[in-house]
Amino acid sequence: MATIYYTGCTLDGFIATTDHSLDWLTSRDIDLDGPMAYPAFQRRLGACVMGASTWQWILDHDEEPWGSLPTWVLTHRTFPEAPASVRFDRDDVARVHADMTEAAGGRDIWVVGGGELAGQFHDAGLLDEVWLQYAPVALGGGAPVLPRHVELRLEETARNRDFMCGRYSVVR
Ligand SMILES: NC(=O)c1ccc[n+]([C@@H]2O[C@H](COP(=O)([O-])OP(=O)(O)OC[C@H]3O[C@@H](n4cnc5c(N)ncnc54)[C@H](OP(=O)(O)O)[C@@H]3O)[C@@H](O)[C@H]2O)c1
Repeated sequence: MATIYYTGCTLDGFIATTDHSLDWLTSRDIDLDGPMAYPAFQRRLGACVMGASTWQWILDHDEEPWGSLPTWVLTHRTFPEAPASVRFDRDDVARVHADMTEAAGGRDIWVVGGGELAGQFHDAGLLDEVWLQYAPVALGGGAPVLPRHVELRLEETARNRDFMCGRYSVVR
């Protein structure tokens, strides 16, 4: 079981524009059966966690209802009622991680984002891997992929059509 921050990002290290647009990402070509693509990653998962802006993006953009994967949204905000798979929690990522580990039943935990939340898991010594899909674009600003000093070891690389993909382990 591993806790993995898996995300698309720009060459200059952003995961969304300053106004939370992902058009620079969703417009790209990817082989969903190809290396490091989301469907195979999804099959490993037992739980996921995200911050408030990411959940807001899903509410604003996702056409499908959120699925059954046990999901934690960390927030101080009040959101509309969510599907039964979603819990709202706050503050202590170590306690949240213990709850996610129990729910995940030995499967992997996906840190969806954003970067500061992934950094909180790193600071608590709970982040194992970072998987990045680099889109061929720079934005010059936006939501940072990982606003911390984090030491990583490159474990695997692949090209998936428009994307340069890297799998890194966290060096503790
Ligand atoms: N490129 C990709 O594949 C990808 C992946 C994921 C996300 N994204 C996008 O990237 C952007 C990320 O936005 P973001 O940087 O603002 O990050 P975020 O993690 O989505 O949201 C940050 C907010 O979450 C809440 N939060 C975080 N940690 C918390 C904690 N421990 N306890 C309670 N609340 C906590 C805080 O808001 P409150 O205190 O106001 O609740 C915080 O301001 C979004 O637009 C998202 O859609 C892109």
